[in-house]
Amino acid sequence: MNTNQHDSSRRDFLQKSMLATAGLMTPLPLSVFGAAGPTKRRVAMVGTGHRGSGMWGTQLLEDHRDVIEFVGLCDKNKGRAETAKKMMGVSCPTYTDFETMMRKAKPEILIVTTVDATHDQFIIKGMEMGANIVSEKPMTTDETKCQAILDAEKRTGKKVTVTFNYRYSPHRQKIYELLRNDTIGKITSVDFHWYLDNRHGADYFRRWHRLTENSGSLWVHKASHHFDLLNWWLESEPETVYAKAALENYGKNGPFRFSNCRPCPHKDKCAYYWDMTKDARLMALYAQNEQYDGYLRDGCVYKEDVNIYDKMAATIGYANGAQVSYSLTAYSPYEGYRIAFNGTKGRIDAWIKESGEMKMEPYDEIMVSHNFGKVEYIQVPQAEGHGGGDKLLRAQLFRHPEAPDAYRQAAGSRDGAMAILVGIAARKSVTSGQPVRIADLTDLKPVAVKA
Ligand SMILES: NC(=O)c1ccc[n+]([C@@H]2O[C@H](COP(=O)([O-])OP(=O)(O)OC[C@H]3O[C@@H](n4cnc5c(N)ncnc54)[C@H](O)[C@@H]3O)[C@@H](O)[C@H]2O)c1
Repeated sequence: MNTNQHDSSRRDFLQKSMLATAGLMTPLPLSVFGAAGPTKRRVAMVGTGHRGSGMWGTQLLEDHRDVIEFVGLCDKNKGRAETAKKMMGVSCPTYTDFETMMRKAKPEILIVTTVDATHDQFIIKGMEMGANIVSEKPMTTDETKCQAILDAEKRTGKKVTVTFNYRYSPHRQKIYELLRNDTIGKITSVDFHWYLDNRHGADYFRRWHRLTENSGSLWVHKASHHFDLLNWWLESEPETVYAKAALENYGKNGPFRFSNCRPCPHKDKCAYYWDMTKDARLMALYAQNEQYDGYLRDGCVYKEDVNIYDKMAATIGYANGAQVSYSLTAYSPYEGYRIAFNGTKGRIDAWIKESGEMKMEPYDEIMVSHNFGKVEYIQVPQAEGHGGGDKLLRAQLFRHPEAPDAYRQAAGSRDGAMAILVGIAARKSVTSGQPVRIADLTDLKPVAVKA
């Protein structure tokens, strides 16, 4: 970004903040809803697992029952759809056939919370059958499916919203604000390192996520959250990716293995043994519905078939000239991340500690170091649910879809695409040993400054 571009981006931000404060900004361009009417919005969901029935089920209804009505729940596991229905306290029909649900329930909004690699079929068919889409991240898992979603959105005139809840945490929003306010000048580079711990991190290796064909690997399933944050914070789009990765802790590296934890003969000596029977909600959603699909929620982290990586590193070049050093480690003693933005006028450091034995504070901190000047510490109070982001995201989507979006947190299909394309490019780069250009993956051409 040159100085003029940077000034104009800052001017834009200040203008938007002022308009937002005055309540004068135009409606959200990415709003997936028509004009808010007096009737409740008709909502259906496909994929009634943990995320669907929780974040987009009970928790959504807790705050917004007066403005939405569930008209259908669909899951390929009929027991799980029924369990979710009970947990959510709704009376709509459940389905195992998606098209039947769409035809009978006629939802205005379809929430897609299935296994990542299946999102595309429901997003596309859902739009073709008349619904706007709220899709969990990642939007999809490869570039062909990504292009098909972008084409279907154009063809149908419907809208895809991707639920990047990480953008909404007050700590990350504060970082966005500091960057837009020219606190450190032009951003030249970013150091971003994410750590998944031996509990939450290991969980990816227990579940369907352990197969690239389901999750696109953690490059897509998990890191697309982080790539979206980078794209959003930098207000630019990624251009090139070079990456390395390996699987060195889980899967075939284990000393022994079994199908899953509950009946495992190695449980006394396995550091990763996890007793799912202590979690009543997970037992109801998964264990009690194994009879329908055989899915084992407490699968062994040492299964031979694990084909995702557990250590990853990438160098990402942005269209505005910024460069990023990124890494993801999936077997750390604690969970969290460290990020630093290097700029022409100084540096912003931030870190989040989410679990582990290290001392925890009731706030998250940001350190702003001005070149040849003072150092400031900014403390942002912590909140529940992905740093408080989940609640704010639900309110923006379902309660205030037309409200000003001063921090540009609402994300559409282009944002969804740019986030996964970094992960897809990284995956390809690991295999080929070559850098990969984002522009070679779909018809989207990265722009230096987002409009
Ligand atoms: N934003 C976040 O922080 C966050 C957190 C967790 C999960 N997620 C996303 O939410 C989605 C769901 O994840 P989850 O943890 O709830 O997984 P899950 O396994 O609990 O739920 C997925 C559900 O989809 C169903 N399903 C799979 N394929 C289907 C198909 N072809 N037709 C119908 N139903 C199908 C499964 O039976 C299951 O009930 C994923 O895309 C995941 O990436 C996002």
